[in-house]
Amino acid sequence: MNCEFHLPGRILFGCGERRGLPGLLAPGNVLIVTGRHSRRRVEAELLPALEGRTVRLVSDASPEPPIPDVERIIAAGREIDAGCVIGWGGGSAIDAAKTAAALMRQEGSVADYFYGRRKIGGKGCFFAALPTTAGTGAEITPNAVLTDPETGIKQSIRHDTMFADVAIVDPELTWDCPPGVTAASGFDALTQGIESYLSKKANVASEALALKAAADVFTMLLPAVRESAPPARTMVAEGSMLAAMAFAQSGLGSVHGIGHPLGSLLHVPHGVCCAILLPALLRRNLPACREKMEVLAGMLVQDSAEAMIAAIEELRRAVGLPENFSRYGLKEEHFDFIVKNCRSGSMKSNPRDFSDDEVRMILKELMG
Ligand SMILES: [Fe+2]
Repeated sequence: MNCEFHLPGRILFGCGERRGLPGLLAPGNVLIVTGRHSRRRVEAELLPALEGRTVRLVSDASPEPPIPDVERIIAAGREIDAGCVIGWGGGSAIDAAKTAAALMRQEGSVADYFYGRRKIGGKGCFFAALPTTAGTGAEITPNAVLTDPETGIKQSIRHDTMFADVAIVDPELTWDCPPGVTAASGFDALTQGIESYLSKKANVASEALALKAAADVFTMLLPAVRESAPPARTMVAEGSMLAAMAFAQSGLGSVHGIGHPLGSLLHVPHGVCCAILLPALLRRNLPACREKMEVLAGMLVQDSAEAMIAAIEELRRAVGLPENFSRYGLKEEHFDFIVKNCRSGSMKSNPRDFSDDEVRMILKELMG
């Protein structure tokens, strides 16, 4: 089987690995993008180690980074002529930092690249990513998901030069993550592992990683949420990283295709969106990929594909995530926007095609 595997950056995994970051940076001034939650740790641990460099710390990265926020972050980096950008936080902080690193030395606005009016012309600043949640895989992938608050559109800027130069997955950074965030981001990682495995673009290398990723997260997510147990959280962090390595090769599927416009329209956290959509879409995908889904089910539950889907629903309930979009106010009037904006690359790598009518039917079932 022909196979291509592309992960150009350096990836470090393990407890305490974050402490090696200062020695891995390129020369120059440093822009750090982090979330409010991580600011104190960054100030205590990282800033003293960067003495001698000019450092700008931006700690108010918004969820699903809006284009104006990213413009502001790029301006902060240009002010100090940053040579390095560090994204330290959840997927949103990392995606905002990744975009800033990619576009800092490019001309034009963020919107130009978001809407494809301009193409990224080459490698941006040195970029390091350190995730504090186990789920998005933003530290591994060459794309950043942004939103345009004016149009409500949520989509990726993607370029092969956007891979992090250094990704440090240090599970200790996830240990104080609140249970609700752990549950949602874990379901994102589980979905990413499963969708990568079932993707039409999967290859032998991505499949091996995706299977192990899905099994790690499926097995350890409940103890990671309930007990904040370091061994369980370490395993979920590992699964999240492996899932991202896999889907960076294979792409994703219909959960992400439908989830992006739905999440941006109704402000549903991405991992929650994945948790609600995953079982419904696995059932609809099953006839198109029964053989692979039975292999996956063998890994996850040592039972049939149908039993695996039921077990995923049970896990969703056990970690406290909803089974439908009722609390987010999904209504039929939203369907046109979701159908119109769901035809991304993720939908193209899904094991089967869904007609517009079928997407509407799926949404109707999940209105609650
Ligand atoms: Fe995702």
